[in-house]
Amino acid sequence: MEEREPLLRVRNLKKHFDKSRGLFKREKRILTAVDDISFDIYKGETFGLVGESGCGKSTTGRTIVKLYKPTAGQIIFDGVDLASVPEKDMLPYRRKIQMIFQDPYASLNARMTVTDIIAEGIDTHKIFDDQEDPKQAKQKRIYELLESVGLKKEHANRYPHEFSGGQRQRIGIARALAVDPDLIICDEPISALDVSIQAQVVNMLEDFQKERGLTYLFIAHDLSMVKYISDRIGVMYIGKMMEIAPSDALYERPLHPYTKALLSSIPLPDPEHEDKGKRIVLEGDVVSPINPKDRCRFATRCNYSKVLIEKIEGQFVKALTDKYARETLLDPNTHELIVKENQLITEAIANRIEESGVKEFHINRAKCFTEAPELIEYEKDHFVACHFTEEIDKNTL
Ligand SMILES: Nc1ncnc2c1ncn2[C@@H]1O[C@H](COP(=O)(O)OP(=O)(O)OP(=O)(O)O)[C@@H](O)[C@H]1O
Ligand code: SF4
Ligand SMILES: [Mg+2]
Repeated sequence: MEEREPLLRVRNLKKHFDKSRGLFKREKRILTAVDDISFDIYKGETFGLVGESGCGKSTTGRTIVKLYKPTAGQIIFDGVDLASVPEKDMLPYRRKIQMIFQDPYASLNARMTVTDIIAEGIDTHKIFDDQEDPKQAKQKRIYELLESVGLKKEHANRYPHEFSGGQRQRIGIARALAVDPDLIICDEPISALDVSIQAQVVNMLEDFQKERGLTYLFIAHDLSMVKYISDRIGVMYIGKMMEIAPSDALYERPLHPYTKALLSSIPLPDPEHEDKGKRIVLEGDVVSPINPKDRCRFATRCNYSKVLIEKIEGQFVKALTDKYARETLLDPNTHELIVKENQLITEAIANRIEESGVKEFHINRAKCFTEAPELIEYEKDHFVACHFTEEIDKNTL
């Protein structure tokens, strides 16, 4: 097997924001935007990062480039832990890791011309200072870059507001490429663009990757977007990494319940897979990333975090007490409330349920609600954070 060399190794990375309010901040409110995530990105690959809005994708990208100071963890780039590099020594790394931002309207300075925007990095990193005529070399580079992203020389002296969203994103790409980076963090570079433009921009990024041996961290909302571009994909949910696998494996055999749900919502154009395409509807509340409890963050929505309790021959087959009700239970005869969702089932309540005509109901699987699962390598290259991966994989849960 070919040796893969990691360009970036993220280890136990945390980025927390203190949201405590009030003068004395009596109640600490910590927003765990990124909470102890680890992953590698290999040289020359595209690592896709997906998850719903607010799960921490942009914060991950911004913390890697140290736009945000990491709360904890390591960001090992080419063997150096950037988390412990002091700000004053960050400049060379800032050149090597570039970012293309989510919003092409907000990410370009409205008062700068295209030339100034692209030249900024070239100047900061003194890229042509050793040339005989640095000014001319810089201008030549800017024209070349504009051309390579599908813009024209004439655009060089215009301002961002004179461009469409797609063109602005091209300017953002030219700005990133100008300093000859190794890694580009593409933060949803196409989601603000018209569908007709999206493919063009993706193709362009892929061409640059081949030509320049670039490595990408490609952030996107949904899996359909990253499927074709990514070699491997990481799935995030409320600050946690839930699954990491090579793209094919993730699509063919998703193991985490959240990934399964995400995938089921993508329409499959392939008739061979049509039977697979049963849509999984996620119910239940999304938990808050503020002061999260010790539990799986997906537990409130997971289809596997509940156990079906059935009455067989007049008796419930599993012991009921000291478990949390998954659903509200009414006595079918009296319509009286026996137990509310999330209520602890005591012995007295268990007896009431036994006596009532209720035939089946769900309780919460305790481990899902009391312990946060670690991300573990379930199979070679396939990482999953779930207490019941094996059972789900073997269909025995
Ligand atoms: N600078 C900040 N200060 C405080 N909270 C922040 C900051 N940046 C992000 N957050 C919070 O961190 C969480 C993750 O936000 P983030 O922008 O990383 O999500 P995202 O996955 O990129 O979402 P989207 O798909 O909408 O871009 C959110 O709850 C957000 O409100
Ligand atoms: S640990 Fe429990 S709640 Fe979390 S994904 Fe696995 S089965 Fe679902
Ligand atoms: Mg974002």
